[in-house]
Amino acid sequence: MNIAILGSGGREHSICDKLKQSKSNNKLFCLPGNAGTSKIATNINCNILDFQEVYKIVKEKKINLIIVGPEQPLVEGIVDFFKSKKIKIFGPDKFCSRLEGSKHFTKKICDKYKIPTAKYGFFDNFNKAKNFIDKNKVPIVIKADGLASGKGVYICKSKNQAIKSIKEVLSGKFKSSSKVLLEEFLNGEEMSYFIIADKNNFKFFGTAQDHKRVGENDTGLNTGGMGAYSPSAIINNKLEHKIIEKIIKPTLKALKEKKHPYRGFLYVGLMIVKNEPYLIEYNVRMGDPECQTIMARLNTDFLTIVKSIINDNLKKIKINWKKEKSMCIVLCSKGYPGKHLKNIEIKNINNLNLKKNEFLFHAGTYLKNNKTYSIGGRVLNIISISKKLFSARKNIFKIINRLKWKSGFYRKDIGWRAINIIKK
Ligand code: AMP
Ligand code: GLY
Repeated sequence: MNIAILGSGGREHSICDKLKQSKSNNKLFCLPGNAGTSKIATNINCNILDFQEVYKIVKEKKINLIIVGPEQPLVEGIVDFFKSKKIKIFGPDKFCSRLEGSKHFTKKICDKYKIPTAKYGFFDNFNKAKNFIDKNKVPIVIKADGLASGKGVYICKSKNQAIKSIKEVLSGKFKSSSKVLLEEFLNGEEMSYFIIADKNNFKFFGTAQDHKRVGENDTGLNTGGMGAYSPSAIINNKLEHKIIEKIIKPTLKALKEKKHPYRGFLYVGLMIVKNEPYLIEYNVRMGDPECQTIMARLNTDFLTIVKSIINDNLKKIKINWKKEKSMCIVLCSKGYPGKHLKNIEIKNINNLNLKKNEFLFHAGTYLKNNKTYSIGGRVLNIISISKKLFSARKNIFKIINRLKWKSGFYRKDIGWRAINIIKK
């Protein structure tokens, strides 16, 4: 079958790579893709938010199945668009995608179904928001209501800082948000829990922990993700039971009751406080770089899983995982997440001699005259699977050293919490 993967990051390259390994004979197209995907799929340059443009390519290339990587096309209704054209597409519809597209929508579900989450207030008026800040303790968390590419969250340690942040959000810094969400600060440990769902059922799709801050020891500005590992070090049976019963099941029930059953990946962002899960956010897609660590551990044919979602028979298949742990370190361009270097050749990329349990996925790269150049802030993802996270990390360092790319940097402490827990 002809399959189109929408997106251009490490997540999409890892999805392409899994599909390439599928037993069935498929032709892969990546829209728009990167230098890495061009080696295993046909890249087609296009704006994936222009659904008519995507549709033209889908007809031209006789695409039978579309897999959507990032959130924005989902939130803007790409699934509804292609369903109306009778083209198979993997992902949640526009209604369900509000789980990520509107924090207000998600909090209303939390209220109705008593899903544990931080206490909150929503405001479109500065004085009322300020009044809420005056009445509550700091730290306080300020969030833009709509999509903000991971940048719409402020953890404010003082009331003055909080007031400055609500002014920024309400004055339209994040175009998608006219409202501000003020939230109680939860002091715990984060983890991400993933499921894959069809109309009737859902299945576990791994746990992971990413590192969003640019600097070592989780300091500095927020990024799209500097690295991740899977599984999370803090998951246990009791906690998993609570996540499913208190958070996931009521959410899926709420959507079904609205006649919009959830289909696709669901990323459950959690804060764990004394072995109790609190929902921090939903994402209606896989995480990046979490996806790269999870796909590396997946043994089951990914296309079989996707088809079972489209046909609503997920129940019939079993999803198998490798026992080993995986880690992904993201190699970024110097300057990221601010203004960063661009168009720099990555010379040694074809000389890495990767072993069976090591993977290289591209993000912000392009090919010119058969040479690989950087373009984005996050450039390459290096993944290793091993019995121990510590050795996976060591393997990744060796690969990065072989690359000798002077224009890049990376965090050397990915997985520090998990590695410390195991050492203790
Ligand atoms: P989000 O974009 O909602 O994932 O938030 C970005 C980051 O802010 C999260 O990964 C958490 O580290 C942090 N965060 C968000 N909400 C809270 C909260 N209520 N309490 C503590 N930390 C939070
Ligand atoms: N790594 C965080 C995310 O994909 O949202």
